[in-house]
Amino acid sequence: MIATDVATGQLKGASRALPADYVNNGFFGQDILSVRQFDRAKLQYIYRVADEMRSLVNRFGKANLLEGKILANLFYEPSTRTSSSFQAAMYRLGGRCISINEVHYSSVTKGESLPDTVRTLESYCDLTVLRHPQKGAAEIAARYARKPLINAGDGTGEHPTQALLDIYTIEDDLHRLDGLKVAMMGDLKYGRTVHSLTRLLGLYNTQFYFVAPESLHLPEEILAEVRASGQPFAELQSVDEIIGDIDVLYMTRVQKERFENPEEYERLGRLFVVDPALMARAKSDMILMHPLPRVYEIAMEVDDDPRAAYFRQMENGMYIRMALLAAVLGKA
Ligand code: NCD
Repeated sequence: MIATDVATGQLKGASRALPADYVNNGFFGQDILSVRQFDRAKLQYIYRVADEMRSLVNRFGKANLLEGKILANLFYEPSTRTSSSFQAAMYRLGGRCISINEVHYSSVTKGESLPDTVRTLESYCDLTVLRHPQKGAAEIAARYARKPLINAGDGTGEHPTQALLDIYTIEDDLHRLDGLKVAMMGDLKYGRTVHSLTRLLGLYNTQFYFVAPESLHLPEEILAEVRASGQPFAELQSVDEIIGDIDVLYMTRVQKERFENPEEYERLGRLFVVDPALMARAKSDMILMHPLPRVYEIAMEVDDDPRAAYFRQMENGMYIRMALLAAVLGKA
C-alpha cells in the first residue's frame, strides 16, 4: 500500500484527487494488519460507526456508500464467518466482492506467489482481505500491495477484525470495558483470536486469567506484552477456582490444523468443555464468548443461556466489518 500523509490523508505519490465525500478518520487508505494499530480513540470511532451500520441494516438493509467499489476476498484457509461477513458487509454497503476461497482452482496451484496473487487481484479491486496459514503473511503481502489490505487471520499470528468484534460485543453486553476479569481458555498457543484480543484488552484495565494445559500456553511474546502493560494476570490449568468471579469467559477451539502430532490433538482436543453445570457456577451477568467454530468445547445445551454471547459476536462481525470497509475506503 502507498502510505498516506497522516495530516491530510492524501495518498503519497498519488496525483488523483481524494473523493469529494472523503472523511479523514485515520483509517482512510490504511492497511489493517494488527490490533497494535489501535488505541482507545480509534476503537471508539469504529464502534460508533458499527452502531450506525447496525441501525442502517435494521432500518433499510443496505446503503450505497461503497457503490462501485470491489473487494477481493482472498482466503488460503477455511472460513465461514469471516469471509461471508466481509462479503455481506460489502454487499450491504452497495459494493461488490470477488471471492477466491478455492485457492486450489486459482493460479496458486500453478505456483503463483502471494505477492503476485495480491497484485493481480488489486488491479481489479479497491481493497484486499487476506487469510493465510503463515504467521506474518498479511504484513508481507501488504508490502507489495498498493491498495489497502486487511488481515483476516495470519496463521497463529493475529486476527484483528475478530478482536474488534469481540470487544464491541463485550461493550455492548456489559456496557463497560475497564475493570473486567477476563478468562481466556483453551488453545492459547495457536489461537490467533486470543493473541489479538489479549493485546486489545491491554488498552483497558483488565484482570487476565489464561487457562490452558501446559503445552498450549499463551506465547511468551504476548505474555511479555501483558507484563509490560502492567495488567494483572494469572496462568491456570483449570477455570474451577475463578468461574464464580469472572465477567467474561472466552473459549477457544483447540486448533487441530496446527498440530504436527495427531495424538497430541487427541489428548488435548476435549480437555475443556463448558456445560450447563459449569455455567450454573458462573455469575448471572458473566458472558461466554467463542470466536467459533466450536467443536467440543461448548455443549449445545448452553446455547439458549442468555449469557452465551457467541451468536451475538457472529452478527456483530458484520457491523464491525461494514464500519472498517467504510472507514478504509473513506466513506465512514
Ligand atoms: C477463528 C479463526 O479462524 O481464527 N475463527 C473465526 O475467524 N471466527 C477461530 C478458529 O478457527 O478456531
